[in-house]
Amino acid sequence: MADVTVRAPAKINLHLEVLGLRPDGYHELAMVMQSIDLADTLVLRSTADATIRLRSDSAELPSDGTNLIVRAAELLRSRVGLPELGVDITLHKRIPIGAGLAGGSSDGAAALVGLDALWGLALGPARLHGLAAELGSDMPFCLEGGTQLCFGRGERLEPVTAAGAPGQAVLLIKHPEASVSTPWAYGRCRDLRGDFYLDAEADFEQRRQALRQGPLVAALAGQGPLPHLRNDLQAVVEPEVESIRAGLDLLRRGPGALAVAMSGSGPSLFALYPDLATAEAARDALAEPLAALGFDAWCCRCGGSGVSLVTDGSAP
Ligand code: C5P
Repeated sequence: MADVTVRAPAKINLHLEVLGLRPDGYHELAMVMQSIDLADTLVLRSTADATIRLRSDSAELPSDGTNLIVRAAELLRSRVGLPELGVDITLHKRIPIGAGLAGGSSDGAAALVGLDALWGLALGPARLHGLAAELGSDMPFCLEGGTQLCFGRGERLEPVTAAGAPGQAVLLIKHPEASVSTPWAYGRCRDLRGDFYLDAEADFEQRRQALRQGPLVAALAGQGPLPHLRNDLQAVVEPEVESIRAGLDLLRRGPGALAVAMSGSGPSLFALYPDLATAEAARDALAEPLAALGFDAWCCRCGGSGVSLVTDGSAP
């Protein structure tokens, strides 16, 4: 069988609201996530030696059983009860690691989709979604992509129609030496804001409804300007990380930005623009201070899909 190639796009958070703490220890969230066209690529080749092997072009990334790609492959193989299946996976890494862009989750979701095709399992969307949710809170979104409301741990998805969205492109920046641990960011949020967490499902639902009917979702549907973007983790992470404060300040000073925020638990930051040309003009205008502060920068379109098969293995 021919190789299977899968595209694994990154996401940004247009809204991240921490509602409360759940009995399972995770936070109850209300988010809007958006795919962008910065993507990793996975190439999968079937082997007959019952081994799951991963190599990547990133020296920073573990290729052992702690990698979500390997965990996804092992979970899938054990659930379908076919331990004899083997695969060689090559990962071409473009999404920065530990950045709040769900790069690891998207790679894991891409492994599920790619192996489903490579091994001819035909599991269907509901089973893939269930496996993704077991592996990581952001992973179901990474499967679906686009613009989605994400509730629960992040795995309960409701699509948003983003037809007339004002924010069609982003300037994304990240300091190469900055990293934020997601559990640390949520722990810090709990320490600082836990007293104000909501408890009752009725209160959670009221916040979900406020988001569904609020100005952000209206703006994404082309009805009104983008409001200020809320990220509750930004409020607790920003005071701790100097490069986040400097980067946000810089993006706010750039020309043409519709909104500026941190993505997920950070430390990547983004500014939204009406189109790619305006994002690129802002990057050019900010080139000197971005270089002086040592930021990496990308201009990306806001994308319409999650992980996707580039080649499905059916070619001769
Ligand atoms: O689900 P995932 O493994 O990606 O989550 C990583 C960590 O982020 C969790 O172990 C937890 O500390 C935190 N988290 C949380 N509430 C969520 C999602 C993640 O507290 N809804």
